[in-house]
Amino acid sequence: MKSDIRNKNIVLGVCGGIAAYKSVEILRLLKKHDARVKVIMTANARWFVGPLTFEALSEQPVYTDLFEKSSGDASIRHIDWAREADAVVVAPATANIIGKFANGIADDALSTFLLAVTSPVMFCPSMNTNMYLSKSVQKNLKTLKADGFIIMEPGAGELACGTSGPGRLPEPEDIVDRIIALLSVKDLKGKRILVTAGPTREPIDPVRFISNPSTGKMGYAVAKAAEYRGAEVMLIAGPTHLPDPINVKVVHVVTAVEMAQAVFTNSKHSDIIIKTAAVSDYRPKEQAKTKIKKEKDEIALFLEKNLDILKELGKRKKNEILVGFAAETQDLKNYAQKKLTEKNLDIIVGNLVGQPIGGFGTDTNEVTFFYKDGTFESLAEMRKDAVAHILLDRILERITVS
Ligand code: CTP
Repeated sequence: MKSDIRNKNIVLGVCGGIAAYKSVEILRLLKKHDARVKVIMTANARWFVGPLTFEALSEQPVYTDLFEKSSGDASIRHIDWAREADAVVVAPATANIIGKFANGIADDALSTFLLAVTSPVMFCPSMNTNMYLSKSVQKNLKTLKADGFIIMEPGAGELACGTSGPGRLPEPEDIVDRIIALLSVKDLKGKRILVTAGPTREPIDPVRFISNPSTGKMGYAVAKAAEYRGAEVMLIAGPTHLPDPINVKVVHVVTAVEMAQAVFTNSKHSDIIIKTAAVSDYRPKEQAKTKIKKEKDEIALFLEKNLDILKELGKRKKNEILVGFAAETQDLKNYAQKKLTEKNLDIIVGNLVGQPIGGFGTDTNEVTFFYKDGTFESLAEMRKDAVAHILLDRILERITVS
């Protein structure tokens, strides 16, 4: 996968701040992604979390003292670790380390190591709001940005010191997400990609609707993968429980009509359009203004057809790559190829739904890509993020050839 941190050497710098406990979770998540992680702690960080915790989780010695001679190599450890690192993340980054590094001061293990690093470095500032907004910290952060270092903006909210405002360490999942982005191949840089995801809901009355079991996982996986790889991504999403992907413009819609409007307004300049959404084909012809009461033994619901958004995009198609998804319960090849032709697509991703593996709500999928030249490619069952990356690879191959 082009955004994979498996076997990457990542150094986690931990400074003395209340949020140091979150660094343990960052380490755990990085290890879950099979990254090789080494931890450097400042002396003050040891007041908050013990080095043993990091040592046990990273399965590596923790570096805390520049002059410590545990295995005879301590004096050059900062150089070796710096040379090996694929990426470095300092989280939490205190005002102290930001100030020291912005001004070239190297007086402990972490600051000395940082000066020797040539790989990308991301700082995650975390401190009291007034400290964070102080002229001095802001000036130092500006210096670091200008020097090419990545600063992950802190979150706003209630802080441990009782104040409220910017200064909170972002959630560990989000920090790890940005490390993955940092290490991803940027082969989609300059490409504008529009993705649709999730189901639509077609209201019957104010409290009821017609929908389907789509959870949006496939579309969100595509949007995230494209963002990791440097694309400018817009995601038009029906109702889902998934968090908005970082650095992706998300437009939330509910009905098929709203989705159509959002797609047509935003698709004009797209290089690639990927429609994973499970759009309701029909909507109730009339919507009751108030809750329908169960007075009658039988009621009929009249449905009218929604516009086929993808087919309409196919009619208007110019040079953009158009990709659809086809969920079928039988005869996948025939139905998918029929949709590919009728909707004027470049690729359609077909999968059989109603099976124990893949389909709605699962983390994995077993899909076949059908191409407009009549060929097809069946993939083994794999995680939806892996499907997303292979799909983006195939799209890129088509852009490069044309
Ligand atoms: N689609 C769309 N607008 C609709 C219905 C579907 O844009 N009103 C898109 C979906 O996002 C998907 C593709 O068309 O990319 C195929 O959707 P699917 O539900 O599998 O097929 P339909 O075209 O709706 O045909 P049918 O329901 O008869 O299988």
